[in-house]
Amino acid sequence: LWRWIVSSSVFLSITSVHANGWNMPRGVTDVSGEIYGLHMTIFWICVVIGAVVFGAMFYSLFRYRHSKGAKSANFHEHTTVEIFWTTIPLLILVGMAVPATATLTKMYDASEADLDVMIIGQQWRWRYEYLGEEVAFTSNMSTPRAQISGEEGFGEHYLREVDEPLVLPINRKVRFLMTSDDVIHSWWVPELAVKQDTIPGFINENWVNINEPGIYRGQCAELCGIDHAFMPIVVHAMEEAEFDAWMVERKEAMKQEALGVDREWEMQELMARGETVFESICAACHQSEGQGAPPAFPALAGNARLIEDREWHIQTVINGVSGTAMPAFRNTLNPVELASVVTYTRNAWGNDTGDSVQPAD
Ligand code: CUA
Repeated sequence: LWRWIVSSSVFLSITSVHANGWNMPRGVTDVSGEIYGLHMTIFWICVVIGAVVFGAMFYSLFRYRHSKGAKSANFHEHTTVEIFWTTIPLLILVGMAVPATATLTKMYDASEADLDVMIIGQQWRWRYEYLGEEVAFTSNMSTPRAQISGEEGFGEHYLREVDEPLVLPINRKVRFLMTSDDVIHSWWVPELAVKQDTIPGFINENWVNINEPGIYRGQCAELCGIDHAFMPIVVHAMEEAEFDAWMVERKEAMKQEALGVDREWEMQELMARGETVFESICAACHQSEGQGAPPAFPALAGNARLIEDREWHIQTVINGVSGTAMPAFRNTLNPVELASVVTYTRNAWGNDTGDSVQPAD
């Protein structure tokens, strides 16, 4: 009866651990499968040892419970028993160490990767850089802690989406080079069997070879400051062809983004400098609002020729107009100031033709 109770309760508790997801996940990478196998092997070895040791103990407690007044054995040593209880644990430990070492060696062999991804922890977001691919982005720019604690309960936040997931191909070896910009974080995705500290000034390596496409979630696993709980990780693993297409598209998007930012910056810069030049030189005759003082000083705002004929405009500023009050500025203004003031006068007061004029290429 006892044996039946013990064995069935052990069996039930273990199966319920599986059913409730209390056990570690098997994961979706080569290494995660091995780690899981190792974990289960060692778990069962421990179960057997536990059963034998506690079985013997409880059996003795029960079997000899009435032997009051019995004298305990009193002996000093027993060579055979000592050899046994040294050798058997030794064999068990070696038996566990051999496969564990093989898995460890494999885990740390990040060489010959097909793709290198830099993972950078930042308070409180993750940055990913696909090395050699010129693709880089911050996964969660917004750290919507206030938003989260308002809209969702604490506890579900780890299921949160990120602005952009880390996209990875399946069936390729992906090496992670992991570091931090500020404090120590830890990049942890259970299904990928990766939990690696990211340490400022230090690059840790890890790798995955994912077997199944899917969405895998994780979370920063090192206390890193007030928003530590709000550094979710989302990995989107996809088929190789799909990944390659994503990479091409993402690269193009990055290029467009970069151009857009530069263009906008360039325009702002030219307008700001142009306004300074205009105010200090041109405004004396053409007025701050470009309305001029006709007929001696023509209006610039709404001036059709100025808008339509950029070349004439530039020449007018550089060389002046002989026989009028418009002087040549080629020696007074440097090229940057000339370009700025031309850009400014073409864009400052809106444009009657509705034609948006961009700075010269
Ligand atoms: Cu980053 Cu905790």
